[in-house]
Amino acid sequence: MKHAAIVGIGAYLPERRLTNADLERMVDTTDEWIVTRTGIRERRIAADHETTSSLGAEAARAALGDAGLGPADIDLIVLGTSSPDHIFPSTAALVQARLGCTCPAVDVMAACTSFIYALQHATSSIESGRAKRVLVIGAEVFSRLIDWTDRGTCVLFGDGAGALVLEASDEAGVLGIELGADGTGADVLTVKAGGSAFPATVERIEAREHLVQMAGSEVFKFAVRVIPEAVRAALASSDLSVADARWFIPHQANQRILDTMADRLGVPHDRVFSNIANLGNTSAASIPLAMNDLYTTGNLRPGDVLALVGFGAGLTWGAAVVRWTKGAR
Ligand code: ACO
Repeated sequence: MKHAAIVGIGAYLPERRLTNADLERMVDTTDEWIVTRTGIRERRIAADHETTSSLGAEAARAALGDAGLGPADIDLIVLGTSSPDHIFPSTAALVQARLGCTCPAVDVMAACTSFIYALQHATSSIESGRAKRVLVIGAEVFSRLIDWTDRGTCVLFGDGAGALVLEASDEAGVLGIELGADGTGADVLTVKAGGSAFPATVERIEAREHLVQMAGSEVFKFAVRVIPEAVRAALASSDLSVADARWFIPHQANQRILDTMADRLGVPHDRVFSNIANLGNTSAASIPLAMNDLYTTGNLRPGDVLALVGFGAGLTWGAAVVRWTKGAR
């Protein structure tokens, strides 16, 4: 059986920065509250002409360039998002057209866990022999789903995209993945209207039901419970333990969640990667953006074991263990 190995990585961030000082002028909040409660100082916001597919395509182009490959070399695109351009067509199909690829393309929607679910889809496609090279993308323009009058959510999220190219290899890159879902927690974090359950109407839009609604502390408690369990399970399925991982790369939702994760896993805080201060919560994009930050700053060495973990609406969660087989940057 072939394994899936990472041969390319790339990212794209919109230019515009929204700082905590900017938010102080928009809602009843303070820089001090946001930094203390979340660790976030600024986030990127897509320009009017940008969309999830345009961000995703830019990140994918960078990953293809990093791998030294072109559009014709890719035989599957799997895109994780919770802010698709449209309900349909899929954002992955739009990215495929933007890149000039001709391969199949599909969206995976598991909120902030979308990237780990997309990685599972891509890895399985390679391991089964159905694909040789797969683009795995996490892309979000979450700013369009945010209620900019709700201080409980608008301070948290940002826009961005990250992408990996996976290739069939004799060397194991993706070692193990553990996924979970608990739909009984669906109401905790939701964009309620705009689908078949609650089609968009003037009344629902006036009630802001087409925007993110979140019970923040419920999500927090869920996250700190499932993250250590998922990481340990994914490491165990790869015959590894916490001590074997050089980097823990969690979905960037809240610095306090990352610190609690480090404490519960018993690892030093500096092995739990964080770029949340600069990017906020970019949902499905946060894990590949974090990997790209580590790569471009020369912090990934061949053989490093990375423990990725995502969690979010659904409720959903997932962890993946990856061996970095690409060279150092
Ligand atoms: N500025 C100032 N005060 C605020 C703000 C703000 N931006 N937001 C909330 N508050 C107030 C609340 O109104 C509340 O005031 P009250 O006590 O007078 O009622 C007080 O601060 C405490 O509110 P809590 O919600 O209890 O604050 P908490 O410490 O839980 O922090 C937060 C809130 C940051 C949202 C936290 O719960 C969190 O990060 N939860 C996880 C969220 C998350 O990760 N979501 C994404 C998941 S991924 C996905 O699938 C999209």
